Amino acid sequence: MEKIFDQLIDSFMENKVGIAENFLSKDLSKHLISNLKGLFKDNLMLSAGTGNDTLVVHDKMYRSDKIYWLDREHNNIHENSFFDLMDTFISHLNRSCYTGITGYEFHYTLYEKGAFYKKHVDQFRNNEVRQYSMIMYLNEDWIAEDGGELCIHHLDHLQNISPASGKSVFFKSSELEHEVLITNKPRMSITGWLKIN
Ligand code: OGA
Ligand code: NI
Repeated sequence: MEKIFDQLIDSFMENKVGIAENFLSKDLSKHLISNLKGLFKDNLMLSAGTGNDTLVVHDKMYRSDKIYWLDREHNNIHENSFFDLMDTFISHLNRSCYTGITGYEFHYTLYEKGAFYKKHVDQFRNNEVRQYSMIMYLNEDWIAEDGGELCIHHLDHLQNISPASGKSVFFKSSELEHEVLITNKPRMSITGWLKIN
């Protein structure tokens, strides 16, 4: 696993956007997809807001994804394996980069056909706890025609990243503007933030 962690960290240092394939094992991805589909069926995936907790605006013109927060207290073994993996990653990151991350938050994310998230940064204006953004994609057999790329707005160019299964993306929450382009089929991921509380 250390090799995959280093791939994510090294590509982050080189390009401001870390990308690692196979961050989530096929097995774990499969279980997380099945959790997500179950949550959707039970109507527990809810429209995401924008802004911080005291000022959440549900603006469907701005983003149209649906989310559900992961929590160790759900006592779901797959959710907990995901958290175990993140704990291992964070201690590796803190040891190798002195990042001082002390917490995290992650949600399941579903973009239904036609959904998107317009250009934004992930750090709230009045709150700097979110240090790094991390997204783990769960989509098998994603092809270019499916759309739904993560588009990163670098200063002098755009970078489009396809949300293909197993891939993890990692970047600084305060820095990079990015958007999710319209998806032509359901697009699933685990999205979250590494925090300094
Ligand atoms: C976000 C976000 C990108 C993606 O949830 O803030 O930018 O690729 N997600 O899902
Ligand atoms: Ni974002």
